[in-house]
Amino acid sequence: MLKTFWQLLDKLIYKVLLASVDIMPPRLIKMVAFFYTDARIRKIYLKKLGIIMDEGTYTNIGFSVTVNDDFSPCVYIGKNVSIAPYVTLIPNSSPNNSDLLKSMDYVNTNLIHENTVITIEDDCWLGTGCIILPGITMKKGTILGAGSVLTQDTEEFSVYAGVPAKKIRSIKN
Ligand SMILES: CC(C)(COP(=O)(O)OP(=O)(O)OC[C@H]1O[C@@H](n2cnc3c(N)ncnc32)[C@H](O)[C@@H]1OP(=O)(O)O)[C@@H](O)C(=O)NCCC(=O)NCCS
Repeated sequence: MLKTFWQLLDKLIYKVLLASVDIMPPRLIKMVAFFYTDARIRKIYLKKLGIIMDEGTYTNIGFSVTVNDDFSPCVYIGKNVSIAPYVTLIPNSSPNNSDLLKSMDYVNTNLIHENTVITIEDDCWLGTGCIILPGITMKKGTILGAGSVLTQDTEEFSVYAGVPAKKIRSIKN
């Protein structure tokens, strides 16, 4: 009896969230996109934030992205990409709260990245807790090791690992 109640509630929440995606306030869209436990729902809400995923791709828990203020597209993820928990993508980067840092030449020229696009091609595999920096492209079939920080574009069907991530092998036959 109690079990049936929770199953019905789960289905009801799914339907309500599905029906609300175009009317929900931005703050709540972000909350559902990053924290709701159903990956199907997160995928639909992430699209509203500018994170576009193709078929066969879903995010895991702890997925985090520095999205654009206007939610314009900032991340494209291809088909059948495997995303482990606690992956962070950084298409935007700025010392938001410090006008002093923002006014400094080096920071302005080299460290502030706005509206870049991160692209992750088909069949990539992102290990637990990895981080991808602004403007990076992961080519088809790249594997990125757990805890790695990707600072450069990758070559397809290769394994990268470490901080900064380096190519450790090719997996092409
Ligand atoms: C990178 C990975 C795929 C292993 O690839 P591999 O080709 O078998 O690499 P190896 O184990 O032979 O290691 C090669 C070198 O990379 C290092 N290395 C492996 N994984 C690493 C990682 N995540 N970070 C840093 N260095 C790593 C090894 O220490 C080794 O270094 P050495 O040559 O100095 O001894 C694996 O270690 C990994 O991180 N997998 C991700 C697991 C995960 O997060 N799964 C998600 C759950 S779905």
